[in-house]
Amino acid sequence: MQMNVVKGDILETSADLLVIGSYSGEKSENPFMTRLNELLAGKLDKAIKAQKFEGKVGQSLLLPAPDRMDVEYVMIVGLGKLGQDGLARVAREAAGMALTTAKRLGLKRLALECFGEDDDGFDAKVVIQGMGEAILLANYYFSVYKEEKQKNQLKEVLIVAEDGRDARKGEKALQIARVMADGTTIARDLVNTPGKDMTPTRLAEAAIELARVTKGIKVKILERKDCEKKKMNSFLAVDQGSEEDLKFIHLSYKPEKTTKKKIAVVGKGVTFDSGGLSLKPGASMETMKCDMAGAAAVLGLFATLGTLKPKVEVHGIIAATENMPSGKAIRPGDIVRASNGKTIEILNTDAEGRLTLADALVYAQKLNPDYVVDLATLTGACVVALGEEIAAVMSNDAKLANSLIVSGSEADEKIWEMPLEPRYIPLVESDVADLRNIAKSRYGGSLTAGLFLQGFIKDEQKWAHLDIAGPAFAERPMGSYVPKGGTGFGVRTLANWIGKM
Ligand code: BES
Ligand code: ZN
Ligand code: ZN
Repeated sequence: MQMNVVKGDILETSADLLVIGSYSGEKSENPFMTRLNELLAGKLDKAIKAQKFEGKVGQSLLLPAPDRMDVEYVMIVGLGKLGQDGLARVAREAAGMALTTAKRLGLKRLALECFGEDDDGFDAKVVIQGMGEAILLANYYFSVYKEEKQKNQLKEVLIVAEDGRDARKGEKALQIARVMADGTTIARDLVNTPGKDMTPTRLAEAAIELARVTKGIKVKILERKDCEKKKMNSFLAVDQGSEEDLKFIHLSYKPEKTTKKKIAVVGKGVTFDSGGLSLKPGASMETMKCDMAGAAAVLGLFATLGTLKPKVEVHGIIAATENMPSGKAIRPGDIVRASNGKTIEILNTDAEGRLTLADALVYAQKLNPDYVVDLATLTGACVVALGEEIAAVMSNDAKLANSLIVSGSEADEKIWEMPLEPRYIPLVESDVADLRNIAKSRYGGSLTAGLFLQGFIKDEQKWAHLDIAGPAFAERPMGSYVPKGGTGFGVRTLANWIGKM
């Protein structure tokens, strides 16, 4: 699919579907709307009234185009109240809707107005990057296991800006959008691939392939015996019941010249979470191929680094395993000693993510990074607390937490801070070991999981934990450009965050 930004007049553009934005309460005050209404001999105003189009976000109006235009359909999309919601966010939502409509109608050429170009505070780079990402991500379709591949392939998308400078800035913004969308797509594909095929070995192969095709990226794979040597007994405990080989994946990216910062990103890589002997009920297990979404986000992030070339050294760390029940599986009540020497009483084998992360976090800190950030589909409690679209951040450094929240907001990935509450630490302390892998209380499950992880973080290490259990996997479409399935959550937030260092 071709995607470009050009300077021009949207109403003079030739396309199959032409899309114009409209604010709520504005009716036809938008000069394009006034002109379009004239071209349609008043039919636009009539349709707005008849269909009660109010310009709200998510609303749209589709009309056959006037004969005098080289266009088949025109669509008006709602942009909400002027200045109320961030323009970039609204432009993403509207662009995603435009693409979905063009696809549904089987059209080849889509042209969109550069939304909000006349508004105060319009930033061509931000809005056009957002539109580009939404267009590419709305076009995502996971067809690997389907006979019918995506029909209705769009050929060309044009974003039409009135101002030549906006168009020029927009070209660069679209380049970034392509990189961000590609990284997100890689993560979505990895998550959508079933556990039978997306094994730890396959995850490692994906990392090796990424390093092979990208200059500046290296990869090291640790096998079981290497992990045994490093005394990663907490990670090994989770793997114990599985027939699949575990893989400990260490990706690294080094900038060509100056290095401003060094960071380590750790992704939970449980390729299938059955719960182990603490087996999940059937319905809860249905989506558990998504339990490596943190790892997928790390791989997606690394796919962006080769092109974005940040001046930051980045390490990506994934302790990849399955969580399965068997005669060899770890038992509730067993005690293991993690690679930092701390002992863990494993009372519930379904709280396995924190066990794999414990050793991964210890490994990450040995690289002496300025920041460690982990991403994990860690707790169902997080989905209860924040719903399906919002991730939690818990951090021992307020500035770090805030920078992730801001980077997320700019990438249209919502993150909300939750506390690492010291008063709850006793809840994860064991009577027979240093820590227990489930809390003594059934309340505040995300917080106690975060506190468990903190048990493996050195006091002086700046660290943030992102619980992405909600937004990593969409059980139904989320807005206009996140289809059902793996969402690739975290890739754009992290790429944006690293890019700003
Ligand atoms: N992978 C799950 C968490 C999860 C739940 C991810 C829903 C995505 C959607 C995790 O390993 C798990 O099973 N956590 C348990 C912890 C409990 C046993 C303390 C949970 O949340 O129920
Ligand atoms: Zn689990
Ligand atoms: Zn899990």
